[in-house]
Amino acid sequence: MRRARILGTGSCLPQRVVTNAELATRLTTSDEWIQQRTGVKERRYVDDGIGPSDLALTATNRALDAAGLKASDIDFIILATQTAEHEFPGTACFLQKKLGNSGVGALDVRDQCTGFLYGLSIAEAFVQLGKYKRVLVVGTEVHSTGLDFSDRSRHITVLFGDGAGAVIVGESESADRGILSTHLHADGKFAEELWVPAPGSIYPGRITHKLLDEGMHYPFMNGKAVFVEAVTQMINVSKEALSANGLTPADVTHFVPHQANLRINESVAQRLGIPSERCDSSITRYGNCAAASVPIAFDERVRSGAVKEGDIVLMATFAAGFTWGAAVMRW
Ligand code: ACO
Repeated sequence: MRRARILGTGSCLPQRVVTNAELATRLTTSDEWIQQRTGVKERRYVDDGIGPSDLALTATNRALDAAGLKASDIDFIILATQTAEHEFPGTACFLQKKLGNSGVGALDVRDQCTGFLYGLSIAEAFVQLGKYKRVLVVGTEVHSTGLDFSDRSRHITVLFGDGAGAVIVGESESADRGILSTHLHADGKFAEELWVPAPGSIYPGRITHKLLDEGMHYPFMNGKAVFVEAVTQMINVSKEALSANGLTPADVTHFVPHQANLRINESVAQRLGIPSERCDSSITRYGNCAAASVPIAFDERVRSGAVKEGDIVLMATFAAGFTWGAAVMRW
């Protein structure tokens, strides 16, 4: 079977930096609380009128440049987001319009912070089967327009930032190099532990004044349940992914976990036995960018020259749903 590999990476972070001190002017919080509990020092917010497809476009163009390709070379688009630009159609279609490559398939993935890995796994399968040659996978989020800046949600609002990350997946020229495997999981019994209930087709009118007054259009999170399950499942799926390839944590050169909370990642890395310098911590600068966190972090590592041929990369994510997953690749 063909092996898929990442041909190029790109990312896009909005210019506007929002520090913890700035948030403390809008919420009852402090830089000390946020850094101690989450690790976040600052995050980025878009300017008015910028949507996830705009961030995705820039990230995609950078990934195309890195791969030496043009938009017309992409033969399938996969876009993961938990902050859709509109109710429908999917944000992938808005990105496609901006890319100008009409006609190819465009798929939205709704697996929140695990969405990028679900998309990567679909792209891997398409390339392995020979169905498509070059698949764009992009994670993109604009959280800042949908956060509750009242104290009720201060444990959530301080976490999130805006950004996008993209990869182009194509066929590897070598059987040893590329995506070694992907592993996806979900457990819907936790669906209401981390969710945005409205708007929804279950409510007559989808969104009502009552729902708005109750703040049902904002994220709700049982932070402790998320923390415990995230640590457990990211460890489990990392071990599953490594052992499927005859690897151990000692073989991992770059651990790129989802950036939900620095404490979660430190705990996962420590319990896996991966040294902290091999574990990405970009949450400190960008907050939690959900589906975009892993491709942003990976793009930064690639562009800095840190990722060398032959390196083993482990990506692991945990998200609302709950969903979780991992990917292992040899660069
Ligand atoms: N600033 C100051 N104080 C705060 C803030 C804030 N932003 N948020 C909560 N507090 C206060 C609470 O009011 C509470 O005060 P009290 O003890 O006087 O009642 C105290 O801090 C503890 O509040 P909790 O909500 O219980 O906070 P917790 O200790 O659980 O920490 C946190 C919250 C950091 C979010 C933690 O639950 C966590 O990390 N959970 C993991 C969830 C996560 O990372 N989610 C990311 C998004 S989901 C994803 O990407 C998978």
